[in-house]
Amino acid sequence: MADIHFDTITKRFGGTVALDAVSLTIREGECHALMGENGAGKSTLGKILAGIHRPDGGTLMIGGSRKIFHSVPEARAAGIGMVYQELASCPDLSIAENLLLGHTPCRWGLFVDRRTMAAESRDLLHGIAPELDVRRMMHSLSVAQRQLVQIAAAIGTRAGILVFDEPTSSLADAESKRLFAIIADLRKRGVTIVYVSHRLPEVFELADSISVLRDGRLVGTLSRSEATDDVLVRMMIGRPLLSETEIRKEGGPSKILLEVRGLSSPGLLTSLSLSAGAGEIVGIAGLVGAGRSEMARAMFGLDAASSGTVTIAGTETSGLSVRGRMKAGLAFIPEDRKLQGLALELSCRRNFSLTIPEKIRRLCFLDHHRETALLTAFFRMLGIKTSSPDAPASSLSGGNQQKIVLAKWLARDARVFILDEPTRGIDVGAKSSIHTIIRELAANGAAILLISSELPELLGLSHRIIVMRQGEFVGEVDGTLATQESLLRMMSGL
Ligand SMILES: Nc1ncnc2c1ncn2[C@@H]1O[C@H](COP(=O)(O)OP(=O)(O)O)[C@@H](O)[C@H]1O
Ligand SMILES: [Mg+2]
Repeated sequence: MADIHFDTITKRFGGTVALDAVSLTIREGECHALMGENGAGKSTLGKILAGIHRPDGGTLMIGGSRKIFHSVPEARAAGIGMVYQELASCPDLSIAENLLLGHTPCRWGLFVDRRTMAAESRDLLHGIAPELDVRRMMHSLSVAQRQLVQIAAAIGTRAGILVFDEPTSSLADAESKRLFAIIADLRKRGVTIVYVSHRLPEVFELADSISVLRDGRLVGTLSRSEATDDVLVRMMIGRPLLSETEIRKEGGPSKILLEVRGLSSPGLLTSLSLSAGAGEIVGIAGLVGAGRSEMARAMFGLDAASSGTVTIAGTETSGLSVRGRMKAGLAFIPEDRKLQGLALELSCRRNFSLTIPEKIRRLCFLDHHRETALLTAFFRMLGIKTSSPDAPASSLSGGNQQKIVLAKWLARDARVFILDEPTRGIDVGAKSSIHTIIRELAANGAAILLISSELPELLGLSHRIIVMRQGEFVGEVDGTLATQESLLRMMSGL
């Protein structure tokens, strides 16, 4: 049997112990979920299997023989593939080139055989994203589309062991469903699946067994039938979780803080109008491609071709630049925070103070004392955990990174927040604390536009939900009356 056996695997990164004597067995042909909060060590374990990291201690056995992979190609040759959590593609190549990276078909060993390449890559993409044109460049794709290409590439390696590291973090429900069907099919064909996720419904749908890691240690392995929401959450975070229904919804809108009239953008958005009052959370539902992020970008002044008016706390902003709109009190937390919300290579401190120069500058000089005071206050308020404020933002977990993005805006006294997928790719514990922060923002008088592909999140937080399809608003429902089914129907137009 080609079972995978991790035996007392230890891995350190500098002073961090990412894995501490983890022993666990993954049976051949099963789908084994790895769960745990951010920083628990899930990705590190997957990367040891895929040849990216070598353990500092312990052994990896596959099918009874000891394996030490020194590189990704070595692991690949042994039949192991991985879909990474971080987007790892070449932006300046086409989808086809990314899909066939390393085995591009050539004619006479010289010329890239474009026709074969297009055909092969179309086959690879067919099961997961049939609508994508393989000639498109990677950089022109959305985060979700790039993720789909990565998944197709990994599956295309025909590996016997596949590691999926949070593959649905940027996918809409329909795309996730397609992925689950593909995974179920791979499993039927005997492929061993290691599925990293912190989403309970996915894990229940796919996994035969579930291992939970916390702080680099194995908390335990359960079979699918032994696992319940409650048990898994407690294993992951060591305490029970607030349920979405406990989220406060009372308190109607008051003063209008955000007023959008006839917002349009050629080919993307058609005459969108909405308003949101102080204390109100307005959800925006839609499938990938419905134009939700485009609307957010247009409201923030990032889409030069857009027309219509956006009024923030009484200031009409359509003639204003992004900076002017920020001054008027608008905050935008984009979908891809790694690209737009945070400078990962800079320190947490720099990231925090970049957007608030006027508050921490005295004459022309940076007032370090004031900066530290503000930073300490906001980081404490949001529960941001860093080893030091001078550590690079890249060293933080996704949840803490997202909290820094929020802290920046809070420190600027923003009144209207556009949140685009604010909890995408964040573990359950941090997710529930971001939900709390969003509710508190509203309770303190902010108006919030919440774009989310997770319907339970939208339903749990929003007072009202506006449904978007093909760049238009197609309906609006009361947050307490809407159901996932009713939203899905409106989102897909069925
Ligand atoms: N390449 C790396 N360099 C330094 N620290 C790392 C690296 N990869 C992971 N870590 C650290 O190891 C710990 C486990 O991380 P990871 O395996 O990514 O957790 P998870 O996938 O469960 O969120 C975290 O504290 C993380 O910061
Ligand atoms: Mg991870």
